[in-house]
Amino acid sequence: MPRKIQLSKTRPSQVRPVSVAAINRAPIHPGSLLSTADLSVDDLCSLLQLADVLEVEDPLRRDKRLLKRRISLLFYESSTRTRTSFELAAKALGADTSLVSAQSSSIEKGESLKDTGITLRSLGAECIILRSPFSGAPYLLAETTGLPILNAGDGMHEHPSQALLDLRTILNHLKSGPKVTEKTLAGVTVTICGDIFHSRVARSNALLLPQLGVRVILCGPPPLLPEAATRLVSGIEIERNFDRALAQSDVVMMLRIQAERLAGLSLDLEEYKTRYQANVERIASYAPKALIMHPGPIIRGLEITSEVADGPQSAIADQVRNGVAIRMALILRALTPTESANRKSGVKVGKRDS
Ligand code: CP
Repeated sequence: MPRKIQLSKTRPSQVRPVSVAAINRAPIHPGSLLSTADLSVDDLCSLLQLADVLEVEDPLRRDKRLLKRRISLLFYESSTRTRTSFELAAKALGADTSLVSAQSSSIEKGESLKDTGITLRSLGAECIILRSPFSGAPYLLAETTGLPILNAGDGMHEHPSQALLDLRTILNHLKSGPKVTEKTLAGVTVTICGDIFHSRVARSNALLLPQLGVRVILCGPPPLLPEAATRLVSGIEIERNFDRALAQSDVVMMLRIQAERLAGLSLDLEEYKTRYQANVERIASYAPKALIMHPGPIIRGLEITSEVADGPQSAIADQVRNGVAIRMALILRALTPTESANRKSGVKVGKRDS
């Protein structure tokens, strides 16, 4: 006889937190990328050099690198750029990919992240690429599966592969090669403008770019850019006046207002556009030579006008193109980490559940 299922009326605030001690924790696999803060300048150099090699490699040779290796894309949030470029990158290396999205999987029935990860591992996944609305979810997945996890964006926390492709875009624009040092981008000022508070892209870039000497300016109104942002990394600056920030910038990263994360916060959009929109007049007056970037998706006519997004200073299409090369490098690193990194972490690479 089927058991009756009692639907829970528990509010989220009443749910007992899972005890961390109750989770079987594995060391984080050295092939994982969870935060840009985990990458040294040497790591950046290796990844950028690998991206360059893979981008121009003969496709028939390249697709033997990870032939038939199994990669799962686990996407709890929608994505166009990140999901497609990770998938294209994995396939270009010869790997088999499987996509699990929240809307069409047992996640809809309430399956937890931990159980979904263990299930994918049992099905042979050797690496999981995770996008989640929850900050920190990739750490849980890494510790419960022991697999290399690539963070494809977690809540308001980080989007490290986006920051890496942004870095490659800036380096290419400056005609600087992949052999980076702490001083490669000394003298370069990058302004990140918009909804900094909710942006994982802003956080990953703010943690990454100063490692190579970049001066980072954050710009936006107080509700979207609290003063506490200066504590993110030493040396970071806040400039509320966009025109003044533009006048000092070599690169400008525009961000969309993340309506899905505003949680009741209301903004006067007309006033926002007046003060913070990247439009032709403003860019021509204050930053006529700056590189204009945007991680996407763009809300045309709000944070950036079509004339600027499609104009000669825009690097938006280059950012998207760079995503495939960077993500090939990340996937290859995930599945072929160095011997010394494995010895250090005690991880046995290539071990699958059967
Ligand atoms: N930049 C970015 O993460 O875009 P998607 O949400 O389309 O992946």
